[in-house]
Amino acid sequence: MTAPSDGGHRAYRDVVLYRRLLADARPYRRHLVGVFVVSLLAAPLALLSPVPLKIAVDSVIGSHELPGWLDAILPGFATSSDVALLLAVAGLLVVIEALTQLQVVADEMLRTYTGERLQLDLRARLFGRLQRLSLAYHDTRGTADAGYRVQYDALSIRSVAVDGLIPFATSALTVVAMLYVTATIDRTLALVTLVVAPVLGVLTWAYRRRLRARHREVKRLESSAFAVVEEVMTSLRVVKAFGQEHREEGRFVERSVEGMRARLRVALIDGTFGLLIAVVTALGAGAVLFVGVRRVDAGHMTLGELLLVMGYLSQLYKPMQTISKKVTSLQSALASAERAFSVLDEAPDVPERAQARPLRRARGAVEFRDVSFAYGADAPALQAVSFVAAPGARVGLQGTTGAGKTTLVSLLMRFYDPTSGAILLDGLDLRDYRLADLRDQFAIVLQEPVLFSTSVAENIGYARPGASFDDIVAAARAAHAHEFISRLSAGYDTPVGERGMRLSGGERQRISLARAFLKDAPVLILDEPTSSVDGRTEALIFDAMERLVRGRTTFTIAHRLTTLDACDLRLEVEGGRVRRLPPAMPSAPQGARRWPRLGARAARAR
Ligand SMILES: Nc1ncnc2c1ncn2[C@@H]1O[C@H](COP(=O)(O)OP(=O)(O)OP(=O)(O)O)[C@@H](O)[C@H]1O
Ligand SMILES: [Mg+2]
Repeated sequence: MTAPSDGGHRAYRDVVLYRRLLADARPYRRHLVGVFVVSLLAAPLALLSPVPLKIAVDSVIGSHELPGWLDAILPGFATSSDVALLLAVAGLLVVIEALTQLQVVADEMLRTYTGERLQLDLRARLFGRLQRLSLAYHDTRGTADAGYRVQYDALSIRSVAVDGLIPFATSALTVVAMLYVTATIDRTLALVTLVVAPVLGVLTWAYRRRLRARHREVKRLESSAFAVVEEVMTSLRVVKAFGQEHREEGRFVERSVEGMRARLRVALIDGTFGLLIAVVTALGAGAVLFVGVRRVDAGHMTLGELLLVMGYLSQLYKPMQTISKKVTSLQSALASAERAFSVLDEAPDVPERAQARPLRRARGAVEFRDVSFAYGADAPALQAVSFVAAPGARVGLQGTTGAGKTTLVSLLMRFYDPTSGAILLDGLDLRDYRLADLRDQFAIVLQEPVLFSTSVAENIGYARPGASFDDIVAAARAAHAHEFISRLSAGYDTPVGERGMRLSGGERQRISLARAFLKDAPVLILDEPTSSVDGRTEALIFDAMERLVRGRTTFTIAHRLTTLDACDLRLEVEGGRVRRLPPAMPSAPQGARRWPRLGARAARAR
C-alpha cells in the first residue's frame, strides 16, 4: 500500500489517499452534501436572471401572454394593469438578484465552515500525534517540519473534500447531462464529442504523476526554508552575538529560491498541461464541426440541430477540462496529504504494549540489565550497562562530557528504548507499563531547563495541575527560587518570556527544580540541576533537597565529584560504559548523611 520515500514521507497511491481523506471527511458528509446542493442552485438562478427583462420586453412593452408559471404566482392585482405588471417584474428582478446573492453567501459560509472544521480535526490529530512521536523522530526531522505539517499540510483535506470533490462532482453531472441532451439530438455527434475523453484521460494521468513529484519537492523545500526562520528566531542571541545575520539571510534566501524555482517548474508544467487540454478539446470541436457539416449535407440532421450541438459543445468540454485540471491541481493537496498521513502512520519508536500494565505509584527500585543503546546508526552511546538501585536510593552519575549520562536517564524515562538489554522498575520491564503511568513516576530537571511562555507560577504548577498556590510557593522555597521570584515585578504572575528567556540561566534552573519538587514522584532525576547557580545557592538547594527526596529514588548527574559524595551508589560513566565507584562515606548512618560539602560551603557563606 505504501512505499517509503525520501524527504520524510511515504508515497501513497491516489485511491488510498482519496479513500482516507474521504473517511476523515465522513463526519461532515451532511455539510458536504449541503455545499453540493447549494452550489447546484447557482445554475437555475443564473438561468432566471434574464427572465424579468424578457417578460418586460415581451409582456409589458409587447403584447405576449405572461408565462403560465408567472401568472400563477403573481397575485391578481399585479396583472391588472401594465404599470402594476412592470412593478411586479421589477420586484421579481430584485428577488432574483437577492436570491442569487443569498446563494453566494450560503455557499461561501457552508464551504468555509465545513472546510475549517475538516482542517481543524486533521490539525488536532496531527498535533496530537506529533507530540507523541518519539524524540528520535523529531531529532532527525526537526521541529520546523512538524510545524509545517500542522500548519500547511493539514489544509489538504479542505482542498480535496471541499474545493476539489464538489466542483468535480458538479462537472461530472454537467457532462452527463449535456451528453444526454446531445445524444437526443444526434447520437453520432455525441459519440464524436466523446472522442476527446480518452485523450484527456491519458494526458491527465501522465501529468498527475509529474506534478505530484514536483509538489512533493516544493513542500520539502518550503518546509526547509521555514526551518531556517525557526532556527534563527529561537537562537537569535547566538546569531546576533556572532553577527551572522547576513549569512542567515543568505541561507534563507538560498532555500527560498530553490522553493521558488520548484514552484516555477510546477507553473510551467501546469501551463503546458492547460495548453494541451485546450488543444485537445479544440480538436474535438473541429471534429464535431467536420462530422456535423457532413451529416447536415447528408440530411441526417438539420442545420439548427448542428448549431445547437455546437452551442452545447462548450458546456460539455468546459466541465471536462475542469475535471482534468482538478485532478492535476489536487496534486499539491495530495502531496500535502501524503505528508500528513505519513505522520499519522509513523510507527512509534516507543510503542505501548497492548496489555500494558497500569502503575499507580512505584516503589522506586531501578535496575539496568545489560543495557546498550545507540542513536540511530551512530556508535553506541551506552554499552552493557548494569546496576541496581534500591527504592529510595541516591544514585550519583558522573563522567566526562559526552560520556552518556543524559542518555542513561533518557532511557529511564523511556524517551528512547534500549537497543538491547532491559531496564526494570520495581522488577518489571519499563516496556510493560503504560507509558503515561510510567512517565508519571518521574520528576525531572533537564540539563537545559525548558520554560513555557507563561507566568512563573504556571511554570512551576505545570508539574501538578491543580496544585495550590501554597504548594507552588513551598516548592519554590525549596528550590531557593522564592526570593528572586518575590523580587520580580509581578511576583509569581510575572511572565517568563518565550522559553523563559526573560530570566537568567540560574533562575530558569531553579524554577525547573521547583517544578520537579512540586511533582510528588517516586523517582527524581536531576541532570546537573545546579550547574548554573553559585556555590552557596547550590549548597542551600541540596540542603532543602535533603528533606524533599526522603523516600524517593534520585538520580543526580554532576560533573563535580564532591556533589555526589552523599550518594548510596556512585556510578562513573565513561565512553558509554558504567563503572561503580566505591562509596565516599561507606559507613555513614542514615540520619547523618548530608548532601555535598554543605557544611563547608554554608560555613564559608556565613
Ligand atoms: N539526540 C541525539 N542524537 C544523536 N546522538 C546523540 C544525541 N544525544 C546525544 N548524542 C550522543 O550521545 C553521546 C552521549 O551523550 P549524552 O548527552 O548522554 O552525554 P552526557 O554524558 O550527558 O554529556 P554532558 O555531560 O555533556 O551533558 C554523545 O556522544 C552525543 O554526541
Ligand atoms: Mg548531559
